[in-house]
Amino acid sequence: MSSAQAAKFSNELLAFIDAWKSKPGNLIMILHRVQEEKGYISKEMAQAVSELTGTHLARVYGVMSFYHFFKTQKPGKYKISICLGTACYLKGGQDLIDESRSLLGLSNDMVSTEDGLFSVEPVRCIGCCGLAPVLSVNGDVYGKLVKSQVAEIIAKYKNMK
Ligand code: FES
Repeated sequence: MSSAQAAKFSNELLAFIDAWKSKPGNLIMILHRVQEEKGYISKEMAQAVSELTGTHLARVYGVMSFYHFFKTQKPGKYKISICLGTACYLKGGQDLIDESRSLLGLSNDMVSTEDGLFSVEPVRCIGCCGLAPVLSVNGDVYGKLVKSQVAEIIAKYKNMK
């Protein structure tokens, strides 16, 4: 099985990679497209990009880690995004992250829960600074939060499944 088959790239994605593979700046464009289609970039997907573009795997990882935009773990069904823009940071955004991660049992570099239900990620200002600190779940925004409210929000989505 080829690495592209292992990564389960669609024909459209393969055609995009083929069209871009010899253009300057191609790696970022291609990785963007992979993340757009798959939601993240796994080891298999990075390997496939390396082979299909003839780029050393270390360089693919180099680009992925330089741009924090790229995700290496599959996001959860419910994506908890916590704002760490200035206003939210000053009003306790980091506490919301710590509380969410602790309630969901996420350790070290884990972004998603093992059952794939939740992921937690810091994001930049989402434009609701008057509601700081802000957390959103798949785009539903919760503002003026204190960390004791996080459990209730998570429970709401857990019950939806
Ligand atoms: S800083 Fe968090 S919404 Fe603007």
